[in-house]
Amino acid sequence: MLAKIIRLKKLVKSLRNERLFTVPSVLTELLRISRDPLADASDLAQIAERDPTISARLLKTSNSAYYGKANHVPVDNITDAIVRLGFRKSEEVIMSATVCAALVTHRSSAEFSMWELWRHSYAVGICNRMLSTRVFDRPDFDPFLAGLLHDIGIIVENQFFYDDGFFRATEARHTNESLLTEEEERFIGLTHEEIGEAVARDWNIPEHIVAVIGHHHKMEEVNPRLRHLLHCTRVSEWICFILKLGYCDFSQPHADELIQSRSFLKLSDADLEVVASGLEEEMKILSGIGWFPYASYRAA
Ligand SMILES: [Fe+2]
Ligand SMILES: [Fe+2]
Repeated sequence: MLAKIIRLKKLVKSLRNERLFTVPSVLTELLRISRDPLADASDLAQIAERDPTISARLLKTSNSAYYGKANHVPVDNITDAIVRLGFRKSEEVIMSATVCAALVTHRSSAEFSMWELWRHSYAVGICNRMLSTRVFDRPDFDPFLAGLLHDIGIIVENQFFYDDGFFRATEARHTNESLLTEEEERFIGLTHEEIGEAVARDWNIPEHIVAVIGHHHKMEEVNPRLRHLLHCTRVSEWICFILKLGYCDFSQPHADELIQSRSFLKLSDADLEVVASGLEEEMKILSGIGWFPYASYRAA
């Protein structure tokens, strides 16, 4: 256990010099703005204008046929783009663009694609938001961010452990139809939950998001106060698995375990159907405007 802690500390320290480290500063600012009742589009614009990748994505999304249909005048500045998209959608675009920009250095194989992990993470975020409006009302919890970031430990593994166990772990997960965390334990000696949790703590991000990052596979260890969000994320993972939306770090037997979370949330078949079709629709729209350009992964 002590050896694990030392490895995690070293890893967190190395990460402070990487591109991924832009994530916590944007995240902290977004969380501050979302809690400020006086915040408006210009506050979000200030964050977006600092980064050309974020600005470009906001403009592209707001000018897309779907979001621009009510007003055919093209938007050419960030504040107008945010007004057109709405506060919440703009927050999602900013945070997603920040995470996506951090994926510039990555390696992929037949069994793992970072771009498919990105598609999965985004889909779980959107699905969490859709599910949470049906099953719990906690404005202080951000289900989208929890979903978007839940597998962030895998991004770190891809960067730091590709040749030191990560590649073999993804191959073994596919061959053995196991959980990626089981294979990570064998080949790396650390799991993406442990790595993600250590990184998230170093970033000082809210406890409910840390809990989802660190416990979405072994949720029994979690503070009961946070169980709703965890169950919600697990149902979202299941929906994304069924709809084949990106890389999933588990196989069919584990999908069956995940869907047990629906009874905790008292979700009906009709609830699941409405959310799944809403999610598919939204992902189709975003794919259509180039959000997921490298979607070529062989689904598990
Ligand atoms: Fe995971
Ligand atoms: Fe996941």
